[in-house]
Amino acid sequence: MATLVASNTCASLECSNFAKLQCPTCVKQNIAEGSFFCSQDCFKKTWGVHKSKHASTKKLYDPFPTFSYTGPLRAVYPLSARRVVPDSIQKPDYHITGIPKSEFKSRGAAIQVCNEEEIKAMREACRITREVLEIAAKAVRVGITTDEIDRIVHEATIERGAYPSPLNYNYFPKSCCTSINEVICHGIPDQRPLEDGDILNIDVSCFYKGFHGDSNGTYLVGNVDDVGKKLVQTTKECLEMAIAAVKPGARYRDFGKIIEDHATKNGFSVVRAFCGHGINQLFHCAPNVHHYANNKAIGIVRPGHIFTIEPMICEGVYQERLWPDNWTAATKDGKRSAQFEHTLLVTETGVEILT
Ligand code: MF3
Ligand code: CO
Repeated sequence: MATLVASNTCASLECSNFAKLQCPTCVKQNIAEGSFFCSQDCFKKTWGVHKSKHASTKKLYDPFPTFSYTGPLRAVYPLSARRVVPDSIQKPDYHITGIPKSEFKSRGAAIQVCNEEEIKAMREACRITREVLEIAAKAVRVGITTDEIDRIVHEATIERGAYPSPLNYNYFPKSCCTSINEVICHGIPDQRPLEDGDILNIDVSCFYKGFHGDSNGTYLVGNVDDVGKKLVQTTKECLEMAIAAVKPGARYRDFGKIIEDHATKNGFSVVRAFCGHGINQLFHCAPNVHHYANNKAIGIVRPGHIFTIEPMICEGVYQERLWPDNWTAATKDGKRSAQFEHTLLVTETGVEILT
């Protein structure tokens, strides 16, 4: 019956004429609702909004058809066009060139001790980062593409007057990282719709008034099996347990044992190729924060230090294989990996979670 009603009234707003014409694309795609018009005139007038009802007519393809993927996930191209950041928003040094020059210059520098003013700015950048991550997480559902999640992240970020830090950072093409199932980290948002049972990590970083915030979480899509749920829960606990040990005098190399002990106890492994990092006016700087036991991380935790902990925990082996896009890191055995991340400020007595 709904179809009959729809076919009787012109889909153009402010027109209630009898509708006898149907949009030809809607006919092809079997779309009834809102596809009927009284005249060519109304059809043309409405085209700008109407066309969004149509499924994308772009042909989707795997850009790496000869690559030996380690698991079932595939890249689904074309990537959407580069998103625009308004002129009014303050941008990091790499936004045009792709090269974070200030980060290269600071290599080998000591861990920055942030003053009150810098801490205040970091709190703002991190609050925005948290808000954007929560907005993105709420959009997670079966059928949404990771590109659509990227659009939501991008818009929520610029709405808050911030720049999405990943965009063109070392040429990264999108505004956040989306890492599905066997992808450990740095997945590029693309045209793949989320499927029932996926686990999805969304990694959001925002640059605001000269400072970066960084946070990520892993979310369940529809019905995830028990091992997947346990992997995600254990990873969250790994981060929480490491954060609980952050206080002045602790050694940066000690967090790894806490994380690895908890992961191993639950039958999981810890990624070694990627680590947490200092963060402030620079997206990534000293210290390196490794997530595995017996690491050689340098440095003592001091008040005013700001850094991330972001353990990546795997169902099977911890080794990674890079996709030919030079970003996406997948597990070597194709089994799933989860991650959680916070930006942390060391206080006189302990820690403040900024994100
Ligand atoms: N938030 C990610 C991290 O700390 C960085 C993503 S940068 C990107 O590892 F360029 F890869 F997006
Ligand atoms: Co990070």
